[in-house]
Amino acid sequence: MDRILTLEFVRVTEAAAIKCGRLVGCGDKIGADQLAVDGMRSEFEKVHIDGEVVIGEGEMDEAPMLYIGEKVGLGGDAVDIAVDPLEGTNLVAKGQNGAIAVLAIAPRGCLLHAPDMYMEKIAVGPRAAGRIDINAPVKENLRRVAEAMERSVDDLSVVILDRERHADIIRDCREAGARIRLITDGDVTPAIEVGIEGSGVHMLIGTGGAPEGVLAAAALKCLGGDMQGRLVPHSDEEVRRAKEMGVADIHQVFTIDDLVKGDDCIFSATAITPGNILRGIRYFGGGARTQTVVMRYKTGTVRFVDTIHKFGNRGMSIKL
Ligand code: FBP
Repeated sequence: MDRILTLEFVRVTEAAAIKCGRLVGCGDKIGADQLAVDGMRSEFEKVHIDGEVVIGEGEMDEAPMLYIGEKVGLGGDAVDIAVDPLEGTNLVAKGQNGAIAVLAIAPRGCLLHAPDMYMEKIAVGPRAAGRIDINAPVKENLRRVAEAMERSVDDLSVVILDRERHADIIRDCREAGARIRLITDGDVTPAIEVGIEGSGVHMLIGTGGAPEGVLAAAALKCLGGDMQGRLVPHSDEEVRRAKEMGVADIHQVFTIDDLVKGDDCIFSATAITPGNILRGIRYFGGGARTQTVVMRYKTGTVRFVDTIHKFGNRGMSIKL
């Protein structure tokens, strides 16, 4: 993929954040999601790619835009697109930290076509890459990650979605002495964080959305981290759907390279509400300011893009 596209994808996630950020705290998660989709979709129309949405807002009949299978772009490189225009709908509705507009792009056929169901996930940063095993007990994974990071388990901080289904994982982490950050929603943002040293979190574990799993894998692949995932179907219908989308073995453990194949992938996330790594969107008279992290696997470049957006023709002075 042409590296010129990197900045184009920043524009796409910025557009989603700018539109939907207006509804932070408004209690309207559906409206916020729709604005993010509108922003992302209209910006994709200007990008020179032959894109196909493989992870999007749902099936064609339930999503008017960015549905799975939708073609986007003006023509160019044939690419798979994974989008979550608003990752963390509840976070935006309640004005809580950690909501992002996010996408991942890879050459056609390289992103796992993840069905909309749950996925068990374990993710770590570069220093613990190659040491995790989703089949091993939680305490064993903690021991291996601590060893790889040359620290003790009680110096690890683990991110877990605060859900009843995670009671055993939470108990095991506590018994092992690790610290825990329980989050209410949005497990893509902490997946980016575990890939960045100094963010204060070292492992993400638990079950969340499978589409979010592919987005997290794209970020971690660019950052040199590691991740494994396994689908958790809750019905025969979900098994059928997964098979239809190309998953031959429903019990397969997906490595990071199964989730995102090949050596070319671009990931972009713009903060909507504040996070540990990126500041949330801020509006002011005549404009707005966004922060985005955009990464390219091929070169390993990670850019933090801080952008001032000017609306209309009103005069506006730039402040530090
Ligand atoms: P939204 O689709 O509402 O933005 O929620 C996203 C999310 O919090 C993901 O980050 C996470 O993987 C998943 O939902 C968790 O699902 P559940 O809320 O059903 O436990």
